[in-house]
Amino acid sequence: MLLKNFIVGAVFCAATNALPWNDGDDKENEKKSYKYVALFSVDGFHSSGVAKYSSLRPQSNIAALLATGYEYANAFTSAPSDSFPGTMNQYTGASPRTTGTRCQGKSGAEVALAANLDYNSTERFSGGINPDELPQKLVNGQCTLVYPHNRTRINTIFEVVHQADKHTAYADKHPAYDLVRGPSGEGLTVGYFPKIAAVANTVDATITCNSLHVTAFFNWISGTTPPNSEKTAGYTNDTKLTFTAPLLKAFDFVNNSLSKIVDALKAKNIYDQTLIIVASKHGQAPINPALYHKIDLALIIPATGVDVDWVTTNNIAPLFLTDQSTLAKALGVIYTTSTAKIAEYGGLSDDDRKVACFASAKGLKKLVINDTVSTKQIGPTVLKVLGLNPEDMQGAKAEGTKALKGF
Ligand SMILES: *[C@@H]1O[C@H](CO)[C@@H](O)[C@H](O)[C@H]1NC(C)=O
Ligand SMILES: *[C@@H]1O[C@H](CO)[C@@H](O)[C@H](O)[C@H]1NC(C)=O
Ligand SMILES: *[C@@H]1O[C@H](CO)[C@@H](O)[C@H](O)[C@H]1NC(C)=O
Ligand SMILES: *[C@@H]1O[C@H](CO)[C@@H](O)[C@H](O)[C@H]1NC(C)=O
Ligand SMILES: *[C@@H]1O[C@H](CO)[C@@H](O)[C@H](O)[C@H]1NC(C)=O
Repeated sequence: MLLKNFIVGAVFCAATNALPWNDGDDKENEKKSYKYVALFSVDGFHSSGVAKYSSLRPQSNIAALLATGYEYANAFTSAPSDSFPGTMNQYTGASPRTTGTRCQGKSGAEVALAANLDYNSTERFSGGINPDELPQKLVNGQCTLVYPHNRTRINTIFEVVHQADKHTAYADKHPAYDLVRGPSGEGLTVGYFPKIAAVANTVDATITCNSLHVTAFFNWISGTTPPNSEKTAGYTNDTKLTFTAPLLKAFDFVNNSLSKIVDALKAKNIYDQTLIIVASKHGQAPINPALYHKIDLALIIPATGVDVDWVTTNNIAPLFLTDQSTLAKALGVIYTTSTAKIAEYGGLSDDDRKVACFASAKGLKKLVINDTVSTKQIGPTVLKVLGLNPEDMQGAKAEGTKALKGF
């Protein structure tokens, strides 16, 4: 398992109006409407990791959140499970088929909107997206810049929440996450994108970088805005496939961060009105290190025997062919030869796609839900609990995506 980013996204949707405490159809009398939703994505957090961590750390905040929450034990992210489609799954209620977002390198089929669009990719904050790095498109006879959000085909929950005059905030690992703003470009009240690639390839450096996301969250709940690598930490090769020390350290960081977040929400007297959701963009396979095989990218392109315009290599390798008619010759399987990586993501296997997903709030009755669910159900859940209409999400409507069971 490759931990690139322990907490990659922190979303905070603040409603301006108080909502009823109960939707009336709930026999258990558990509250299902909230004024706020705080959504956290932990890259590489497999669904099995939730149970493992909480049995290893029964006194942890993660275990405490589960004690008043619903754990979706069979939750799946998008296929492919790359960061961008995994992200859009959560925020549009739709799969890559509808969002058109298939991998991080290419937001659509033919436009490159990669992770390094900013002024200087080696600096934590270099001024955001550099327009010189963007493609352009003729709009009414004018050359117009194409930002990642322009390539988002359908609206996002941030737009729906924002259009209802409520606030949204989002943090992620680089400025190309602009795509969550949605086609209007206006979904985020505030976006915060400290560059993950600017830090060293260690667990500690990643924790420090991701702590910025946690601090940003504290700013947001105080009504202020924050001022302006690849990491290797896997499972052991024992029969139980337990966490290695660095991986456990990473999860302890997540636990401690969530713990501070709960304390801060309580200190602001808004914890009781907040639904906390923790899920993952992708799982980052494989859990079993013995299943890890590396194949040299340099062998793949010659092996296809065709002209390749663009390749993004993860567990799977989307190949963008120079000539569509060469498709039949190009089919194949790909891994990485990076010596730093012991896992990659983007693939279609359960280890890539079966991710952590739980929702916690004061008063919820502890429940493990074994039904197969998709992380694309998170978007409709967020809108529903905020008293907004999930059908206002074009993607959820197109794919008939419903809120998670229990909400
Ligand atoms: C997890 O968070 C709890 C607070 O809820 C804290 O007491 C505990 O020390 C943390 N555990 C670890 C292992 O970091
Ligand atoms: C990018 O930032 C790094 C670190 O601050 C610096 O060493 C480098 O010169 C910068 N590159 C450019 C092209 O400005
Ligand atoms: C991209 O979106 C912005 C709004 O954020 C809009 O002004 C611009 O025209 C769009 N660009 C294209 C190519 O559609
Ligand atoms: C895992 O353990 C098995 C059995 O001991 C061994 O054959 C295999 O090489 C190990 N794999 C790794 C990646 O260490
Ligand atoms: C889900 O499965 C677990 C373990 O098999 C079981 O304890 C739990 O009761 C199941 N949940 C439901 C709602 O059936």
